[in-house]
Amino acid sequence: MRSLVAGNWKMNGSLAMAAGLVADIKARHQKAVLPVDLLLCPPFPYLAAVGSQLKGAGIALGGQDCHTAGSGAHTGDVSAAMLVDLGCCYVILGHSERRTDHSESSVLVASKAKAAIGAGLVAIICVGETEAQRNAGDQNKIVEKQIVESVPADATAENAVIAYEPVWAIGTGKTPTVGDVEAMHRHIRGLLKQRVSGGAAMRILYGGSVKPTNAAELMAVPEVNGALVGGASLKAEDFWGIAEGAAKSAG
Ligand code: 13P
Repeated sequence: MRSLVAGNWKMNGSLAMAAGLVADIKARHQKAVLPVDLLLCPPFPYLAAVGSQLKGAGIALGGQDCHTAGSGAHTGDVSAAMLVDLGCCYVILGHSERRTDHSESSVLVASKAKAAIGAGLVAIICVGETEAQRNAGDQNKIVEKQIVESVPADATAENAVIAYEPVWAIGTGKTPTVGDVEAMHRHIRGLLKQRVSGGAAMRILYGGSVKPTNAAELMAVPEVNGALVGGASLKAEDFWGIAEGAAKSAG
């Protein structure tokens, strides 16, 4: 399975910063095409500019959220069709920051994923336990419930990706041990095989404090099929270092 290395810029950057970052990543990509798929997910206001810069570069564009409806009276929201219009192929859904900041439930995430898939996007559906849940030994149960409720019935290996992001590892510099990552990814793989058509081939990304220094080790873990990168995706050198780490475990 080809790895996917995705940069989630979250609510960071400026138009000028985006232009510089994309130019730098493009230049590195032109010099050495890596055997991994690359994806950038800037904030909505920068999608058009980043999309036109990425045209023909072989690097995909994605949004960080979308609405369940195709259009209508939903002030401040963005539809999946609008993302497609701007050249997006992917959308991140159910990120823990949206689950927390906007009280998004797994049921809502599933209906967003259904809308995204219907519009032709690949839905990156995020799951992950909090520190308290892990300390209580409940991580498998929590992630299972999130998968069951957040992954819509029509998800396939072609139109959906799972991102396992332990909440306590996001932006903290802490990561689970390689053994814990493997155990969770195997658990998720088992659930996907049971529940999703082609679940054996659906990518499962790891996210949470991925850095150039730990990427090769994390990406070599069985059932880890790529990375969802936050902070380190805001520096071309770091994002590229992670892509190189993922490339090491390719093929
Ligand atoms: P960090 O890489 O900054 O820990 O963020 C991970 C994340 O939330 C990506 O979606």
